[in-house]
Amino acid sequence: MNFNFWTQYFQYNQDHFDHIDWLQCQPLTPYERLIVERSLQQFQKGEYSEGKNLMKFAKTFARKFPEHEEYANTIKHFINEEQRHAMVLGRFMAQENIPKIKEHWIDDIFRYIRKLMGLELSITILATAEIISAVYYKGLRRATNSPILRAICQQILKDEAMHLAFQAYTKSIFMDRRSGIQNFFLKLGHHVFTSGTSLLVWFFHRKVLKKGGITLDVYLEEIDQEFRLLYANARNATIERKMTLENQQETANEIRA
Ligand SMILES: [Fe+2]
Ligand SMILES: [Fe+2]
Repeated sequence: MNFNFWTQYFQYNQDHFDHIDWLQCQPLTPYERLIVERSLQQFQKGEYSEGKNLMKFAKTFARKFPEHEEYANTIKHFINEEQRHAMVLGRFMAQENIPKIKEHWIDDIFRYIRKLMGLELSITILATAEIISAVYYKGLRRATNSPILRAICQQILKDEAMHLAFQAYTKSIFMDRRSGIQNFFLKLGHHVFTSGTSLLVWFFHRKVLKKGGITLDVYLEEIDQEFRLLYANARNATIERKMTLENQQETANEIRA
């Protein structure tokens, strides 16, 4: 696997919302709307980013590591996919007369931290948002009978699972360059950040999550599962990279012999 694979994946996936039948007329019930409206506004805002800083970090990374020069192009497609998440949620909200919001302080905190340092911190924070999304959209899908919203959630869940695998792949490149003990403490820091952020998100979105059958203990358990999956994927990416390198060296040795 390499970033060419990921670019191809994002290109292949670009019509991921084409199957949605926007003419289905089963609007949100007043009760559903009461539960999901503010929560949906915040997640729609969170999905949209111009990705200027991420793009800048990705270009620097691609220049620094010529073997990963495709990464800047991959990130461009990734940002487009996230923008499509914001777009379809926005379209659904417009259909339901739910206004978009311009700012939300939780979203501002996420963006501020991501700007602070380089690419690795940026994708680590992104991964936290995606871990939370992987649980949130499950709750949102179950919290409503709207066929359109359910179909949107289902597709976002599929996409976010792939995004987490993508961030894990990139993280593994950074992790390979550090000692085990350094990685251990950085993972611990990420775990603390993810736990704190998850609780904050629970506080603001618990109505949707509870309506979707996700109680606090289920929510924390699922967040933890996603977190472990992220690092398991990063480990697998490292193993796969090492095996590819070993195979290449063996082949080169055979040719020389
Ligand atoms: Fe997204
Ligand atoms: Fe994502």
